[in-house]
Amino acid sequence: MRQLMAAKRLNLAILASGRGSNFTAISEAISENKLNAQIKVLISDKAEALALEKARDLNIKAIHINLRNYASMADYETELVKRLKEFDIDMVVLAGYMRLVGTTFLQAFQNRIVNIHPSLLPAFKGLNAQKQALDYGVKYSGCTVHLVDEGMDTGPIIMQSVVPIYNDDTEESLTARILEEEHKIYWQSLQFIAAGQLYIRDRQVFILEK
Ligand code: GRF
Repeated sequence: MRQLMAAKRLNLAILASGRGSNFTAISEAISENKLNAQIKVLISDKAEALALEKARDLNIKAIHINLRNYASMADYETELVKRLKEFDIDMVVLAGYMRLVGTTFLQAFQNRIVNIHPSLLPAFKGLNAQKQALDYGVKYSGCTVHLVDEGMDTGPIIMQSVVPIYNDDTEESLTARILEEEHKIYWQSLQFIAAGQLYIRDRQVFILEK
C-alpha cells in the first residue's frame, strides 16, 4: 500500500467543458478553508464554457485550448501538459471535461488526475449516466470520484455518495439530486489527498485516519 501524496497544500488545475458548478463548489470549499488547496488554472476545450467565465470572475487564470488547432489528440494533449507544467500542478481535476484522457496526458500525470461521474461506478459509465440509471430502473444512484486511468470511468474509486430514485423522478430531478452530492464529495476527496490520507493498493483506495 502506498500513499498517493504526502500532506501539502494542493496546487490544482481544473479542466472543464461546461457550466462549471463543480469548479465553483471546489473554489468555495477553498475560500471557506475546508480544502487546503489553490486553483492555479482552469483550462477548457470549449471557448464558450461558462466555467471559463466563472474562473475569470474569481481572478483565476482561465485558458481555452482549441482542439481544432492541433493535428492530433496527442498534439493537443502535449500542449495541455505543457501548459499544466507551467503551474506546478499537484492534481488535475476533471470537472465536466467532456473528453477521453489520452496516453500523453495520462503518462504526464499518472495518478494525478481525478474525475467525478454522476453514477455509482462501475454502473452506467459514459454519457447520460442519470438517464441510463432511470431507464434501467435502479432504486439508488449517486456519484463517484475516481482516479483517472486509460479506461472510460474505470479508475480506482476514491469516494461515492448514494441518492434514492423516486417514482416521479425525471432526468432533471435526478441530475439535480446527484449534483448536490457531487458538490460535497469532490472537495472532500481532494482534502483527503491534501491531508495525505489517501493510500492505494492495486485498484483499491483507502482513506486512513490522520
Ligand atoms: C457533472 O454532472 C459531472 O458529474 C459530470 O459532468 C457534470 C459537470 O457539471 N462529469 P459542472 O460543469 O461541474 O456543473
